[in-house]
Amino acid sequence: MKKRYHLKLDPKMIEGSRIALLPGDPGRVQTIANFLDNGRQLASYREWNSHLGELRGKKILVVSTGVGGPSTSICVDELAQLGVTAFIRIGTTGAIQPHIVPGDLIVTTASVRLDGAGRDYAPVEYPAVADFDITTALVQSARLWGVKHHVGITASTDTFYQGQERYDSYAGTVPRRLKGSMKEWQRLSVLNYEMESGTLLAMCAAMGLRAGCISGVLVNRCKEEEIDPSILESVESKTIGVAVKAAEIIASALP
Ligand code: URA
Repeated sequence: MKKRYHLKLDPKMIEGSRIALLPGDPGRVQTIANFLDNGRQLASYREWNSHLGELRGKKILVVSTGVGGPSTSICVDELAQLGVTAFIRIGTTGAIQPHIVPGDLIVTTASVRLDGAGRDYAPVEYPAVADFDITTALVQSARLWGVKHHVGITASTDTFYQGQERYDSYAGTVPRRLKGSMKEWQRLSVLNYEMESGTLLAMCAAMGLRAGCISGVLVNRCKEEEIDPSILESVESKTIGVAVKAAEIIASALP
């Protein structure tokens, strides 16, 4: 097989890896790869930066997805073409339930599909549900690390401002159909907003692949609209630590 067009990777380069850690930000890939043994860069093109490393002798990829469903779908589809079967998203998020505090982690069990890209893989009635083993590994890992975490449903949008009912945008308003949407998701016990899990979980479930998602909380929208950049680093390192341990648990069960 030739190099995949977007990721610039071929099966030989990934050395049989079956598991990929997926941050959104290409700049975070190196940080995550530093948690692995023998981490090294494989390729970088547009938003897709890829590194390969090892955990207890098992090859693990770290590949950035970029922001949102379309670039995530390209990343996951091409990795699957290369033989990757398990995906763990490492993200950031805005909480919408009052008891969640910036710095906490959220393990997504399923996502409300407010994205468009996932609909090209399965109709919207199809559940964007996380893989049970990966979700369990994420929870087990968060407990091992002693990190405060919440487990539940995420709303996954295509847009940061309109889709997440933010009024601090250029337009300063949202279309009528989105007015009151945050309140409705709160009432339906949704924990948080982010922008990739809907596509990731739906496409993976639909294609018989395994995926899970853990996100670090940057802001609680019940109290504050603006993200405090000073907490970004500590939230990210907690999320990465938990996700890497979960990848190790999943990898150890592979033949
Ligand atoms: N990512 C999102 O999509 N929303 C937030 O509020 C924070 C991070």
